[in-house]
Amino acid sequence: MRVRVDVLFDDADRRAALHEATLRGLKETPKQIPAIWLYDERGSVLFDEITRLLEYYLTRTERAILEERAREIASETRAETLVELGSGTSEKTRLLLDGLVAGGTLRRFVPLDVSEEVLIASAHAIAEEHPALEVHAVVGDFERHLSALPVGGRRVFAFLGSTIGGLEVGARKSLLRAIAISLGDEDMLLLGLDLVKDRARIESAYSDRSGLSERFQRNGLVHLDRELGSDFSQGRFEHYATWDSEREWVDIGFRSMGAQVVRVPRLGIEVAFADGERLRTSVSSKFRRARIEAELADAGLQLGLWWPDADGDYALCLSRRCQFARPAAQARARCVAPTFGETVAV
Ligand SMILES: C[S@@+](CC[C@H](N)C(=O)[O-])C[C@H]1O[C@@H](n2cnc3c(N)ncnc32)[C@H](O)[C@@H]1O
Repeated sequence: MRVRVDVLFDDADRRAALHEATLRGLKETPKQIPAIWLYDERGSVLFDEITRLLEYYLTRTERAILEERAREIASETRAETLVELGSGTSEKTRLLLDGLVAGGTLRRFVPLDVSEEVLIASAHAIAEEHPALEVHAVVGDFERHLSALPVGGRRVFAFLGSTIGGLEVGARKSLLRAIAISLGDEDMLLLGLDLVKDRARIESAYSDRSGLSERFQRNGLVHLDRELGSDFSQGRFEHYATWDSEREWVDIGFRSMGAQVVRVPRLGIEVAFADGERLRTSVSSKFRRARIEAELADAGLQLGLWWPDADGDYALCLSRRCQFARPAAQARARCVAPTFGETVAV
């Protein structure tokens, strides 16, 4: 059993980047904090509980698609290395690992996550379950550290759980570009995407009746207070999760109950909130095929296989790098053409 762990940022580095992004976010309109605050050790445990909620259809739907398609993914990708971005507990990934191991090509698993404790625990668990596999865990930020991932062999990058929906349009564009640059000619990207659907179902996935989603979000404020000496979690904030039909995302966070000022000593600022003003903690974009296909093409990636569940709630899709990336307009026109292998599915 071999587990290698690369830590791409030390604590001081991680803190500096997070503090700077938080300072920037608190000066924006609406005020916002990076979603990374949600994923301390307790946050990761709470998220894991959320994935088992009835209202949170995403995880079970993605798992069902993986159960059905893992063998097909293995034969399409013939991956020797599985890289997983934002791997968390890698729970569903086991289906993919099993499919790729059964396909006989997989040699190495590279999970990457910011949440060090959870990442290392799951890397060891997977190494134990697959003794022949080399497990190379990377503690890092998928928005900054893709170029430091191990290369060599055919790789498939898995980005599951609709984690990509947590990025705003500009950040998503930068990340897809960085992925396109990282992919070799034979590498592929497997994306898990939550699809646009009925508003009530979407909102209840992020504001469930038991209050677990709210506890998860409030834990993000506790984490932030612990590191920055602030008192957001003691303030008067009510939780919200609202579907924005224009941007096609759920806007999640807190609304100030009355006017208040929150001190953030370690950033040297005081933040004034008007009554009802928002503090956004995360967004979760929902996708339509045409939109993600265009975003992928803009980034120099070609969408090939599209695997939705029977109800059209969620989809996995497999993409690869376009054969050329310049000029952008031409790349886009060529990228959306159905030339992915010989097996384009709709
Ligand atoms: C929504 S969870 C999904 C976890 C898992 N992939 C799944 O499908 O259940 C998002 C994961 O991404 C990680 N994450 C969030 N932002 C990250 C970043 N910028 N770099 C690396 N990991 C990140 C979190 O720690 C968390 O484990």
